Amino acid sequence: MLEEESYKEIMLKYIFAKKTLEVKLDCLVSEYELKNEYTIVEHVKSRIKSEESAIGKLKRKNLPITCDNLVKHVHDMIGIRIVCSFLADVYELVNLIKNSGQFKILDESDYIKCPKTSGYVSYHLNILVPIYWEKKVEYVEAEIQIRTVAMDFWASSDHKLRYKFPINIPEELENEMLICSNDIILLDKKMQRLYNAIKKYQE
Ligand code: GTP
Ligand code: MG
Repeated sequence: MLEEESYKEIMLKYIFAKKTLEVKLDCLVSEYELKNEYTIVEHVKSRIKSEESAIGKLKRKNLPITCDNLVKHVHDMIGIRIVCSFLADVYELVNLIKNSGQFKILDESDYIKCPKTSGYVSYHLNILVPIYWEKKVEYVEAEIQIRTVAMDFWASSDHKLRYKFPINIPEELENEMLICSNDIILLDKKMQRLYNAIKKYQE
């Protein structure tokens, strides 16, 4: 179990950082949408990882269950998912966040260019969010997942399917999920082409 007093303080920082991040992202996106007269975000979802799943993650990483390890090794205590319509929107959002100068970028993974072996496709950014704590600036880690509606459909279906198989998903179904992932990658590319063609036509 995690030491109660430290855990309470850490959780407060995570709650504060999540709110700060949501407001900062909201401002960035609203500013972009106003300037470009274009809705880039379909929806945003956010959560703070529960104590139970944080402990589960530390156990899987074979680390002692301490608050220090939670802060150091659980990189997605704060998770924000930004869902957009088109492939190009994902990269536009990534650049918007990276060039905003509001966060420190720790790590980024382009699982669109290189999908995971499961077929998972998304863009991940691990960032540090600045917060004021006891009159000083502190940095709190968060994971931002950026993906299209199609990628989100695959990821949530995959999540639900895997939960039905607590040990291992049968190989046959795993292959079918890979095929679906390929279909989704193609569909995103098709939609992007359509969008570009329509935009050109309008101009
Ligand atoms: P962490 O230490 O957890 O960061 O491990 P990692 O860096 O190997 O994982 P990564 O950050 O690349 O991905 C973590 C998150 O991406 C998960 O919590 C899921 O939300 C999502 N994710 C990764 N792989 C899959 C997958 O195969 N299926 C689904 N549905 N989601 C995935
Ligand atoms: Mg990670």
